[in-house]
Amino acid sequence: MNINIPKRGKLITLEGIDGAGKSIHTSSIMAWVKQQGFHVIATREPGGTDLGEQIRQWILYQETSSLTELLLIFAARSHHIHQIIEPALSRGDWVICDRFTDSTLAYQGGGRGMNKAIIEQLSTILNSNIPDLTLIFDVDLTIAKQRIFNRQSETHELSDKFENASQSFVQSVQQAYQSIALNNPQRCILIDTQKHLHAVHHDIINGLNGLV
Ligand code: TYD
Repeated sequence: MNINIPKRGKLITLEGIDGAGKSIHTSSIMAWVKQQGFHVIATREPGGTDLGEQIRQWILYQETSSLTELLLIFAARSHHIHQIIEPALSRGDWVICDRFTDSTLAYQGGGRGMNKAIIEQLSTILNSNIPDLTLIFDVDLTIAKQRIFNRQSETHELSDKFENASQSFVQSVQQAYQSIALNNPQRCILIDTQKHLHAVHHDIINGLNGLV
């Protein structure tokens, strides 16, 4: 009997401080994956499911204790992994996730100063997938702030509590990301988004080429 088990898909995560310019690259990454002949889905955290999107509103717009925030993030992630990410990877689809566990290590660990061992333990309990590739978008803090301001002026979107965070909070988040990149060179690529958009695209494709 010939049982066709699909080859497991790959998980690509996009990370970086707010205003680093990660989200605009999702469509070109999706196009690249399709060119390789794979199905691909794009999703995000917090969110990705109906429940996750509701929890996202609480995380982004309500003042809570750091622990409540952390547990809400993991509640949304647990649901997201079971409903969306794991089924997609098992059927051989590739998944592009805008933020994942590294965001928690950077924002709640680096920014809020929460114990990283607890974050890692919660990840283990969830059986969180380890991404095959993580693109960490990096930019000077002043440019990031300006980009957030420009976007808000254009869209009239309400700014969330992370976009309103102090410069020292953002600096800690950025430092946490830089050390994640440094400590996981086989998985993470730091992408400098101060370069011209074409050069950024080139760096992303270089990283993706390593996956096939
Ligand atoms: P994002 O989707 O990048 O915001 P936007 O839609 O404005 O581009 O991210 C939402 C925010 O959630 C971001 O500021 C970081 C925060 N966040 C955490 O603090 N911890 C996490 O684990 C995740 C996934 C996100």
